[in-house]
Amino acid sequence: MGGPKGGKGNWLIWTAHIITNMQEKISMKTVCPTHSISPKKLIHLIAAARPNFMKIAPVYHALRKADWATPLIVHTGQHYDLNMSEVFFQDLRLPEPDLHLGVGSGSHAEQTGQVMIAYEKVLIRSRPDLVVVVGDVNSTLAATLAAVKLGIKVAHLEAGLRSHDRTMPEEINRMVTDTLADILWTPSPDGDENLIREGVSQEKIHRVGNIMIDSLEMLRDKIESQTAFKELGLDQNDFVMVTLHRPANVDDPKILREHCELLRWVSERIPVVFPVHPRTRKKLEQNNLTSLLEEHPGIRLLEPLNYIRFMNLVFNCRFVITDSGGIQEETSHLGIPCLTLRPNTERPITITEGTNRLCRLEDLEKTVESVLSGTFQRRTIDLWDGQTAGRVVASIKSVLRVKG
Ligand code: UD1
Repeated sequence: MGGPKGGKGNWLIWTAHIITNMQEKISMKTVCPTHSISPKKLIHLIAAARPNFMKIAPVYHALRKADWATPLIVHTGQHYDLNMSEVFFQDLRLPEPDLHLGVGSGSHAEQTGQVMIAYEKVLIRSRPDLVVVVGDVNSTLAATLAAVKLGIKVAHLEAGLRSHDRTMPEEINRMVTDTLADILWTPSPDGDENLIREGVSQEKIHRVGNIMIDSLEMLRDKIESQTAFKELGLDQNDFVMVTLHRPANVDDPKILREHCELLRWVSERIPVVFPVHPRTRKKLEQNNLTSLLEEHPGIRLLEPLNYIRFMNLVFNCRFVITDSGGIQEETSHLGIPCLTLRPNTERPITITEGTNRLCRLEDLEKTVESVLSGTFQRRTIDLWDGQTAGRVVASIKSVLRVKG
């Protein structure tokens, strides 16, 4: 198992800082464990992997303004590379994590088990009033399991999403997390409907909207004033952004090769910008496919980008080809066409009301032609308004029975 590494020298320094910091923050609770002197509510925000950071940040900033709350950021270490984690903390104006579990990569069971073991120790040492988990990564599930077994309340932000595809590890994480969590914050009506169909009681479900949009709107000015696309010599509205990292798309060498060939085909029509996820980079290298992309003049392979640079490229591209979940939402909000290389999505509202289209590999050429001839529409999605964190904080206040 790898702990923090690659640019994570800082995190080793953090460990000492974290312990001091945490002790200060939780001292009130330790002194008065029964809350008799009205301590602040201790709330853990679990951050683990790249897509989590944009979801944690708006909630953290909103809780910091609440005089009744002490939010602590717990980083499990699932993502540890500088450009998969730390740069997001900087862009999103997050402080260093209060606690870093340093778990790193591993098989599903290893990663989930390591987070459970490490986080349980933290929970026993200092019991929070609420654990907030976000999204659907292995750490989301692991932190939930550790907390509920100790009788600690868990709230899941981005609850109720279902792809109905159990071959996706995320679907398993979503289902188990939603079964166990006490509070389910959903982004859209389909989330509520899925949970009700699964027998979740209505009072646990609070529709709060889409938290990713809060981060995007919080940083809109910075994103718009960024010059990433110009620095790459690209023209506005005249390139396509690509992201690919799902095991189903990159782990099988034959499928990965087919993707590479299609990207070469796309790049003959419009320049392709492809920031490569570490999982994908590894698979390209293992299968000697990197050069197939790198040596093609229309394709720019980049390292993973920070949030603001990446979003600047999305804001200015003609369309996106992706298998990410969050990007389906961001493009829908922005009105940018998105071709999702998956057979299903847990975010169907991005298709019915946004700009997302599911696309099989064999249909990509046809769909790209249709995007280039411009036939995409979108509507404004209810509660995707940049105000979700406020609704989350109001919900926490009510669930924890905070007066005033
Ligand atoms: C994880 C999430 C996925 C999310 C994605 C976003 C699960 C099951 N999957 O997938 O839902 O969409 O994050 O990125 O939780 N690696 C590095 N450096 C890092 C992190 C990962 O090199 O900082 C490499 C390692 O080789 C690792 C591999 O990427 O084994 C996969 O990382 P992992 O966190 O297991 O899954 P992701 O594919 O990133």
